[in-house]
Amino acid sequence: MVNERRPNNMVRITTPELAEAFIEKQVEAAREQIGDKRVLLALSGGVDSSVVAALLIRAVGQQLVCVHVNHGLLRKGEPEQVIEVFRNRMNANLVYVDATDRFLDKLAGITDPEEKRKIIGGEFIEVFAEEARKLDGIEFLAQGTIWPDILESEGGIKAHHNAGGLPDYMDFELVEPVRILFKDEVRVVGKALGLPDGMVYRQPFPGPGLGVRCPGAITRDRLEAVRESDAILREEFAKNGLEGRVWQYFTVVPDFKSTGIKDGKRSFEWPVIIRAVNTKDAMTATVEDVPFSLMQHLADRITHEVKGVNRVLYDFTPKPTATIEFE
Ligand code: XMP
Repeated sequence: MVNERRPNNMVRITTPELAEAFIEKQVEAAREQIGDKRVLLALSGGVDSSVVAALLIRAVGQQLVCVHVNHGLLRKGEPEQVIEVFRNRMNANLVYVDATDRFLDKLAGITDPEEKRKIIGGEFIEVFAEEARKLDGIEFLAQGTIWPDILESEGGIKAHHNAGGLPDYMDFELVEPVRILFKDEVRVVGKALGLPDGMVYRQPFPGPGLGVRCPGAITRDRLEAVRESDAILREEFAKNGLEGRVWQYFTVVPDFKSTGIKDGKRSFEWPVIIRAVNTKDAMTATVEDVPFSLMQHLADRITHEVKGVNRVLYDFTPKPTATIEFE
């Protein structure tokens, strides 16, 4: 249903049964809207776009074309997971575009955070539009718009940029099967659709990805240090029962080096900064009290396993005065 609104008396979707009823209704509605036409979706691997993909695969199967753009700023294992879940398990019609070089070449030498964001956002639309142009008979664009997006754009809090500001010539009708849901409901629906927990309960991840966790000009070696240290942090948080309990946690590799000792020799390498915060709405945030022994273990693993790193630091700053991300 185009421009569907959440009924005031809608029961919060908290159980598999409620999720199934919702899915059935939306599958019907999507089939009716799309008919025998094709529908395009930018599949980032985030919760909302993943749930939309799974729902539309159930509704129209191969008529859905998912485009996964790897901008080179994704976390370790993310593009592989998208391919495994959607192409291999769900038999989706998935176009995978590795645009890493394109993005990193454009970003080379760019230090201003907002300019980095603009380049990443702009290039993303470019790549997506190029892929769309290669496809025939697309009449619909699916989006992972959710109810808070609608409320916030109506309330003038933020512009609703889920469409990514596609060029005007891409004149698609929108398909928004989860637009009346709150985030927690999207997760329940995703679970009912068979998506893995790692996808459904994942922590928030910014659109510009690891790009804003590699402060200043992004270099491939420092980006790799961010990606590897982030993977270790996520692995250790999962092992120690912090996954799903801490709202957001990640690593940052700043653009400076300090002296250390490795293998009995002087080293001059980057630090890794760990950030772990809790919040309800991301407007303010408190710092997680990570057990000291886990911190020591993280420092040990990161300094031994991540190339170019000789120190590990913890960011103790709440929001305000710090923001959650570093850029
Ligand atoms: P800050 O750093 O503003 O972050 O305290 C608040 C929340 O927003 C996420 N964030 C972004 N998400 N594009 C996004 O999609 C962005 O440019 C962006 N910047 C910050 C951040 O990860 C946190 O969850």
